[in-house]
Amino acid sequence: MAKIAIMGFGTVGAGVAEVVRLNGAKMAEELGEELSIKYILDVRDFSDSPYAKKMIKDFSIIENDDEVEVVVESIGGKGVALDFTRRALQAGKHVVTSNKELVATHGKELLAIAKARNVNYLFEASVGGGIPVLRSMFQELATNQIEEIVGILNGTTNYILTRMEKAGISCAEAVKEAQEKGYAEKDPTADVEGIDACRKICILSDLAFGKEVAPELVSTEGISNIQRQDVGIAAAAGYQVKLLGHALRLPDGKQAAYVALHLVPENCPLAPVSDVFNAIIIRGNAVGDVMFYGRGAGDLPTASAVLSDVMDAIRHRERRRNLGWSQSADLVAADDLVMRWYLRGDFSLDAAKAVCGEVEELTEGAVITAPMTGAAAKEAAKALGAAAMLRVL
Ligand code: HSE
Repeated sequence: MAKIAIMGFGTVGAGVAEVVRLNGAKMAEELGEELSIKYILDVRDFSDSPYAKKMIKDFSIIENDDEVEVVVESIGGKGVALDFTRRALQAGKHVVTSNKELVATHGKELLAIAKARNVNYLFEASVGGGIPVLRSMFQELATNQIEEIVGILNGTTNYILTRMEKAGISCAEAVKEAQEKGYAEKDPTADVEGIDACRKICILSDLAFGKEVAPELVSTEGISNIQRQDVGIAAAAGYQVKLLGHALRLPDGKQAAYVALHLVPENCPLAPVSDVFNAIIIRGNAVGDVMFYGRGAGDLPTASAVLSDVMDAIRHRERRRNLGWSQSADLVAADDLVMRWYLRGDFSLDAAKAVCGEVEELTEGAVITAPMTGAAAKEAAKALGAAAMLRVL
């Protein structure tokens, strides 16, 4: 029998318990042994819960119990979650997490401890919720050099952008709606300002390219400045406005990673991905493009990914998954990348052509430029007095 402990009985932790209840027998059959939750750690009182007998408040009980093989960290943040993760790994336990903030900021250190202790530190649920993207990348796509990753990594902002387009409402109105539906937090900053997507593109990049990308070095733009007018102009011209995380390896070995709004052409499979769904395209040098699509949040989808890691840790209890990343990536600035740009303002087509050269006119006062760097596009936007400027995928 494999015994596990859950730390943090919020949405994800409770979801893990529920999926064990729902699918525990199926998982046991797959594993060839039963999976049992021995403890649930939470500072809050759950005396009325069906799990009351398993509830504990003292982490050292887990730390000192040799029967507990796998610890699920669903506390979140970098406070006690970091301390408990370090200690659980040091105690020779496998740790599985959905905590993208911790993986993005301390993953290198925690994976090094896991390696030294010959245990697994797995974090499938930290990117794309229930979508099996990380394991697919490090296992099924291990035969490839990954060249590029681009994706819709945040469900809340995708919902907001979808509502702006479909209902013609403002960003602020759509944020309020997302809060009422329980998608956006009371303080929606991490989602709306792109911080959540930034952590996820860092984790994807770290794993894909083997070098650490620190979130604070990633140019991160959220959606709070988007005008419904631009969403409407884009849609009428065959583009969807999406917040994308983008990581790529350049021919000289340098890397780039950023989060920003883009106009996505309708023929790109990311364009129809709407509401709270996530989708991630990974380009490998042998396989070409593969896309992963599904629910990027929610209790049961996230728990599904957490428990796939629990099963993987048990299957790899003797020979650990060899995951990790090393020194910092050599990053080029997002503004140095060459791409097309959407500019909108009170300017004529002739003026846009005079400043930018070839342009595609979407409507009066809105154009898409030929490929140019972000620095050049900013100059052009300034010269034209543009009121809006967005990347084009
Ligand atoms: N707040 C996240 C989202 C949840 O909206 O995608 C999962 O990371």
